[in-house]
Amino acid sequence: MESSNFVLKHVTILLFFFISSSISATTFPSSSLDRIVTHTKSAHKNFTAVSEFRLINRRILKDCSVLNPVLKINISSNSRLSDDQFVTVTVTGVSNPSDGDWVAMISPANSNVETCILNEFYYLQTGDTAKLPLLCHYPVKAQYMKNDPNYLNCKTEECSGSIKFHVINIRSDIEFVFFSNGFLDPCIVGRSTPLSFANPKKPLYGHLSSIDSTGTSMKLTWVSGDKVPQHVHYLDGKTVTSTVTTFSQADMCSSVLPSPAKDFGWHDPGFIHSAIMTGLKPSSTYSYKYGSNLVGWSEQIQFSTPPAGGSDELKFIAFGDMGKTPLDASEEHYIQPGALSVIKAITKEVNTNNVNSVFHIGDISYATGFLAEWDFFLHLIKPVASRVSYMTAIGNHERDYIDSGSVYETPDSGGECGVPYETYFPMPTAAKDKPWYSIEQASVHFTIISTEHNWSPNSEQYEWMKNDMASVNRQNTPWLIFMGHRPMYTSTKGLSVGRKFTDDVEPLLLENKVDLVLFGHEHNYERTCSIYERQCKAMPTKDQNGIDTYDNRNYTAPVHAVIGMAGFKLDKFPNKIQSWSLKRIAEFGYLRAHATRNDLNLEFVKSDTRQVQDSFRITK
Ligand SMILES: [Fe+2]
Repeated sequence: MESSNFVLKHVTILLFFFISSSISATTFPSSSLDRIVTHTKSAHKNFTAVSEFRLINRRILKDCSVLNPVLKINISSNSRLSDDQFVTVTVTGVSNPSDGDWVAMISPANSNVETCILNEFYYLQTGDTAKLPLLCHYPVKAQYMKNDPNYLNCKTEECSGSIKFHVINIRSDIEFVFFSNGFLDPCIVGRSTPLSFANPKKPLYGHLSSIDSTGTSMKLTWVSGDKVPQHVHYLDGKTVTSTVTTFSQADMCSSVLPSPAKDFGWHDPGFIHSAIMTGLKPSSTYSYKYGSNLVGWSEQIQFSTPPAGGSDELKFIAFGDMGKTPLDASEEHYIQPGALSVIKAITKEVNTNNVNSVFHIGDISYATGFLAEWDFFLHLIKPVASRVSYMTAIGNHERDYIDSGSVYETPDSGGECGVPYETYFPMPTAAKDKPWYSIEQASVHFTIISTEHNWSPNSEQYEWMKNDMASVNRQNTPWLIFMGHRPMYTSTKGLSVGRKFTDDVEPLLLENKVDLVLFGHEHNYERTCSIYERQCKAMPTKDQNGIDTYDNRNYTAPVHAVIGMAGFKLDKFPNKIQSWSLKRIAEFGYLRAHATRNDLNLEFVKSDTRQVQDSFRITK
């Protein structure tokens, strides 16, 4: 969701200078400070997902270990950590259990809390100036001890409790830290011994993408703690060696105030390997494994290639705004409650061979500057993305930042500015930070743009999309589907897309007879009539099964659908229904599509029941 960036940017800068000069004078009355704290918290709340949890790394950590002299933190895993496991953290010797007691998982372990005082100004970005931080490393996750139902019922002098954490291999070691006094005024009671992963170099989180429209090559991208090139074994004896890349803290962007990605949210991404499997047949099933004898191998994974452009039939799934849901009861800085249910439902579709490819059109992981969360996202999508082509478009939460060249100057990427996104999801784009491309699968040409990069007439992206759509051979691919992140048409209140985007780009859709337009960003499902310039140019008619059918033999205008309902907390619709809005559903789910040469069948599937809640067809 979006924002009045101009105001935010200037309020932030003004506050920075005001607070900086006031603090340096050391005469700040606490009542004035309180007012500024309150003001800046509310100013930032909707822009950088400031939460109680997110604020904890901006606090001076008092040491209250003296109150619990015999406290011990025991971890169920005595040996080194596996790649994916649940760890039980048991705290014993607690003298006075309180509902404000909590445990954080921190990585790397033994973070030096003393150096951060020098960075005090950097943390003003969150609007939290009440206490400045000593906990330099943002916890990967945290949860309250009261999640153990017996914890607060203890009647003895030395109490204990156990909670479970889902831990995946994030390469650098972790520790569990016990705090009391809640998230807002925490004091540190004790730390576990550091735990390391059995194999921090393990090749993990492999996911596939297409490099072209032939269906004969697939790019596999994965993560490892090792920079030495590794291999993919596939097709009964073929081997391809990886190219290796990574990104550093220096690659993250910042403004007047350092971003989360630049400092407290940083986590070492290890090395990102990619290799292209070639010589495959379209619409075929193979298997691969990746790694090396030095660092170990993945399991053998079965995958399918998409159909070649120009062939007949395609089954694909599309959605936006998924993110990740923790598998334990933890808090994280940004949780998308529907992501788990959606990825489980799509996994079932993939397991029944019902999917040729997936399109995730922006707002991918919501790591937004807290880099360890990319690993958790890649882990979550693996059952799908390791088996079929997982194509992406960029969203505001990957790209936007103040003074970074994004169209919308919000801090929504937390300082990532698209760098982790394009490293983890290398799409067939022309160049870095130009994340637009097209691809053909069976009877469909997909034109995929970035709403976050300049799309004004005569801009590089505008010229590209104009040429791309004009050059489509509709004999070869009768369907033209246009995708991006921010919608042109949505009923959701607080519309964050400027009308200029619609005014500038919509004429190209009509000129090129685009059949279907898919966007995300608003967190619900909404389908329009055949629409142009906010007017219905045609309405669908019911077919013999009662399904809304748009007859594009008499083309009038594109049909638009917002599909940002794949994980982020849902947006409610206003009571007033716009004349162009034909279906509105605020449920978690995904769009399931089946294209033949004459029919484009689309269904909105609610993820937890897998029931179809909307169906429509476009025919030609
Ligand atoms: Fe968005």
